Amino acid sequence: MLATLKEVLEIANQRGTAIPHFNIDNIAGIEAVMEAADTENYPVILSIGQGAINAGNLWYLADAVQRAANDSKVPVVLHLDHGVSYEQTVVCLRAGFTSVMYDGSHHPFEENVRESLAVIRSAHAVGVSVECELGAIGGVEDGMSHDHLNLVDVGEVERFCAQVNCDALAIGIGNAHGLYKGTPHFDFDRLTACRKLDTPPLVLHGGSGTPDEMLRKAIELGIRKINVATELRMAYMEGLEASVGQRDFYKMCKQAKDNITAVARQKIRLFQGL
Ligand code: G3H
Ligand code: ZN
Repeated sequence: MLATLKEVLEIANQRGTAIPHFNIDNIAGIEAVMEAADTENYPVILSIGQGAINAGNLWYLADAVQRAANDSKVPVVLHLDHGVSYEQTVVCLRAGFTSVMYDGSHHPFEENVRESLAVIRSAHAVGVSVECELGAIGGVEDGMSHDHLNLVDVGEVERFCAQVNCDALAIGIGNAHGLYKGTPHFDFDRLTACRKLDTPPLVLHGGSGTPDEMLRKAIELGIRKINVATELRMAYMEGLEASVGQRDFYKMCKQAKDNITAVARQKIRLFQGL
């Protein structure tokens, strides 16, 4: 069943767990992630990011996710990842999204506040949740490269949340998009300081390649949504590469899809503390 980001984060808060945000880029990704969520019987966020939007058709993917959600017994969020403009979030409202992210983190603080409030005003008018971001997350996501690692300013979090009634807030604590060069170092003290403030549920981007014990600790300290994209895309490509020699198209597709399902199930179990 379709759900809003706010609704599934309430479940995470009650259980002290995190909800997985999986980026999907095609129908196979939708089917694979939904198989994992249905098998594990746990809420899931299916996210359409800028790469998928630029490479494909947002409307087709949005319709397919809504169909998959209606066929499922678990709560499913249809989410826009790293929304680049107010206008893009309006298109997603029209396309049936139940959650949108407006990423104003690389704009001046006041502009981020202003644009985030505009997105929230439209989205909340039609019951859609909004995720915002402070402190541009490092690494490369869908071509949006932030080569500097950004550690969020705790004072800015307090000022932002006092003005912006978003439903989730993505913060930088040393996390980065894409695979890490070496072991990442998270500033858990900074996360703890943010959690002591009056904030909405906190989001960790850049989940791929993060050691499980670091994700467990982040969840213990209050992270309630964790984004994973690169690991799913790599699993898909490895599945295709592993089976290309068989020259059997449907076997290749199945292997690629099964690879995504396996990664998604492992993350779902990890994020709920199993
Ligand atoms: O917004 C999407 C995620 O932050 C993806 O990060 O590719 O490192 O898993 P990741
Ligand atoms: Zn991200």
